[in-house]
Amino acid sequence: MREKIVVTGAAGFIGSNLCKMLLQQGYLVIAVDNLLAGTLENLPQGVEFKKIDVCEPDFSRYVEGAAAVFHLAARNCLDDCAKNPVDTARINVMGTANVLQACVTYKVPHVIYSDTSAEYEGIETFPSQVDQVKPMSIYACSKRSGALIAEGFKNYYGLNVSTVRYFNVYGPAQDWRRVIPPVMSAFTIKLLQGQRPFIYGTGEKRRDFIHVDDINRFHLKLLREREIQGGTYNLGSGKDYSILEVFEKIENEIQSGIGPIFKPELPGEAFRTLADISETLKTGWEPKVSLEDGIRAFIAYTKDRLARG
Ligand SMILES: NC(=O)c1ccc[n+]([C@@H]2O[C@H](COP(=O)([O-])OP(=O)(O)OC[C@H]3O[C@@H](n4cnc5c(N)ncnc54)[C@H](O)[C@@H]3O)[C@@H](O)[C@H]2O)c1
Repeated sequence: MREKIVVTGAAGFIGSNLCKMLLQQGYLVIAVDNLLAGTLENLPQGVEFKKIDVCEPDFSRYVEGAAAVFHLAARNCLDDCAKNPVDTARINVMGTANVLQACVTYKVPHVIYSDTSAEYEGIETFPSQVDQVKPMSIYACSKRSGALIAEGFKNYYGLNVSTVRYFNVYGPAQDWRRVIPPVMSAFTIKLLQGQRPFIYGTGEKRRDFIHVDDINRFHLKLLREREIQGGTYNLGSGKDYSILEVFEKIENEIQSGIGPIFKPELPGEAFRTLADISETLKTGWEPKVSLEDGIRAFIAYTKDRLARG
């Protein structure tokens, strides 16, 4: 019989890619999402889709008999969270507690909590180490609260929770519809459409980019190797690039001849992200997709996506 895996936030960027990989590996995938930000179009054929808010008491029945639950559902755009702090806390904190409670009730053997490098936003020493966090924004504080609640479930109920702290993830199905989309989408879409992309600030901010396939290879490893479960892992490439460097790499591939428009800084954005991945490397995982290869694949995907309308 196929092992059942539940993915919350399955219609979003990372969740939909994760569902695809789990299906390819032969798992029975229960895809949970309330479509707050995700779309049905993202969901791969073959998942069992359940449209429900993770805060609903009724959510719990979906985890019965699951071998693992990946909890990705979250309100997660910095600006959106700042404008909706109460609902952010409801989803990212109460929703997480509800998912964890369901896993205790149905004795789910493993829960994977999706955390964020935004937890390091108040710390100015690099690379960022898992035990030194200083969240500042509503988003980061809500995700920290979710991670702390998970610690509580671990300590008091013995729930087996692994925490994966992603840096700047990019790849197919990245949410390009946001008012301010993530840079990779923002630059690629505008350049392909012959328009000038915006850079907020001077372009000197640095980011650690990691391809979604590398994230999912670690997810799979966590699922299969009991001895590495229960820890907190940074998932980045361990390299950082300035926003201008990323712009240049994308433009080198597209050759549009178009330059960026510089806009004022956005409030609350960290100056730099860079992961210390030494502990994650000890598990035998390593990032395999170079930024150059990832950008080429992302441009091909975006061209196809735009052609489909
Ligand atoms: N994308 C990144 O670079 C990145 C970096 C760090 C951490 N993360 C974390 O990874 C996870 C997934 O992020 P993503 O980039 O795929 O975001 P996304 O917005 O594309 O996906 C999140 C999904 O959660 C769903 N959702 C939101 N509230 C819900 C609710 N109450 N009930 C059910 N579903 C709900 C949304 O509809 C969406 O489909 C999030 O927890 C986020 O905090 C992402």
